[in-house]
Amino acid sequence: MLRRLHHEQPESFAFTPANMDWAEAQISKYPEGRQASAVIPLLWRAQEQEGWLSRPAIEYVADMLGMAHIRALEVATFYFMFQLQPVGSVAHVQICGTTSCMICGAGELMEVCKAKIAAKPHEVSADGKFSWEEVECLGACSNAPMAQIGKDYYEDLTGEKLAEILDAMAAGSVPTPGPQNGRFGSEPLGGPVVLTEGAGEGEKLNASVALATEIGDTIKRIDGTEVPLRAPWRDRSDEQGDATPDTHAPKLSEGAPADETGIDKREAPVKPAAEVASDVSEGRKPETLSAPREGGADDLKKIKGVGPKLEALLHSLGFFHFGQIASWTEEELAWVDANLEGFKGRASRDAWVAQAKTLAEGGETEFSARVEKGEVYDDD
Ligand code: FES
Repeated sequence: MLRRLHHEQPESFAFTPANMDWAEAQISKYPEGRQASAVIPLLWRAQEQEGWLSRPAIEYVADMLGMAHIRALEVATFYFMFQLQPVGSVAHVQICGTTSCMICGAGELMEVCKAKIAAKPHEVSADGKFSWEEVECLGACSNAPMAQIGKDYYEDLTGEKLAEILDAMAAGSVPTPGPQNGRFGSEPLGGPVVLTEGAGEGEKLNASVALATEIGDTIKRIDGTEVPLRAPWRDRSDEQGDATPDTHAPKLSEGAPADETGIDKREAPVKPAAEVASDVSEGRKPETLSAPREGGADDLKKIKGVGPKLEALLHSLGFFHFGQIASWTEEELAWVDANLEGFKGRASRDAWVAQAKTLAEGGETEFSARVEKGEVYDDD
């Protein structure tokens, strides 16, 4: 199956403030230079927020992580869990079509989807509320046939039951997920034959269903307001008196060669702790401009590591020309590194000063030559 971007795309994408906070917390889990490791959680959050992944959303995430857009596109188009086309505004229904479910009636469930939603998978229903697709085994085979709707599983389904569930959702309610035939969990249809004492006694819903019912976000878009967004490792730095924890600060490896930890030297230059601390605290703000000089700003994207977002950030800080960057001293570089919100440490990591020197003198770098030839896709 070809997985391509949808032909109609929104103008833009942005995380809600709460989701942005969540995303930054995810990024802070990884060492400096390895932010790209957060690509799947961030793409997933973008999908949870919007229902599907648009091109602006994919590029937004790539920019946040300092990745070339094509790298994030590769991830989004590779994994089937990412929806590359608009989905129903109420729910996207995923029918398991693998062996157990197919034997037990998944075909009937798909017929219901075709009749009630759309003739073909990934098409949005006429009223815009639903879409559906067939997916591979979702690991609930003993409760076949089943479907995932939003975040929860609806198991032991029949065509009739699925139709009722869709009607209920269309009317604004969310039926209780889990087994739909009266089973508590995945015990035999005739009732449990082992562990018959104590298990589930007095409980009407199994733990998964009880939690899903309690959270109640089965088909809700996640905008960050519904669950506490916890990042305990960041909270700890708050407790230690760091009111604004620097989630992108260079990680120190205590003098050990960076390569031994699997981190490339170029990406995570190792500096003694004292040196890094003093860099940041003693950094000095370079001279800045309020606007580009006559003739306009240089194309700072010719510097490897500077994409559209970073270029805009540099402009907002007062840097428009190669010559400005080329003249940064160590102290000034430290100030810039510390003030690249969301990209801290990037200027040192990618040796902007050396690159800018070459470009300011009218020369070209291997990277800028590729930019000139149009071979670089945004912030490659
Ligand atoms: S076969 Fe359907 S959940 Fe495994």
